Amino acid sequence: MVVEDLPVYTRQQLALRNGQDREEVWIALDGLIYNVSASRLWFRGTHYEHWSGQDLTDELPDAPHTKEVLQRFPVVGRLV
Ligand code: HEM
Repeated sequence: MVVEDLPVYTRQQLALRNGQDREEVWIALDGLIYNVSASRLWFRGTHYEHWSGQDLTDELPDAPHTKEVLQRFPVVGRLV
């Protein structure tokens, strides 16, 4: 994956993918946007009081897991 070749999305565009306004569930971490729609743990866009459709980089330290959990989900773009 060449990061520069990924489509870019703004925070406003990301915010629409919160599992409510649209079915897509996207989350951003360290500048990359992941599509976690396939996860049952992100059903309807929420995950243990965390909301999709936003940059969760600062919230990951609250999680009992590392960013490894994101590996099985496709990167759909980068956040600008
Ligand atoms: C209070 C904070 C959180 C709790 C209690 C929590 C809990 C969990 C648990 C129990 C799992 C499944 C077991 C595992 O893989 O370890 C999981 C998976 C996952 N978490 Fe979290 N998490 C938290 C925050 C976050 C944050 C901030 C993110 C995003 C950066 C995140 C993203 C994910 C993802 C993508 C998965 C994999 C889902 C799947 O495989 O279907 N989590 N989390």
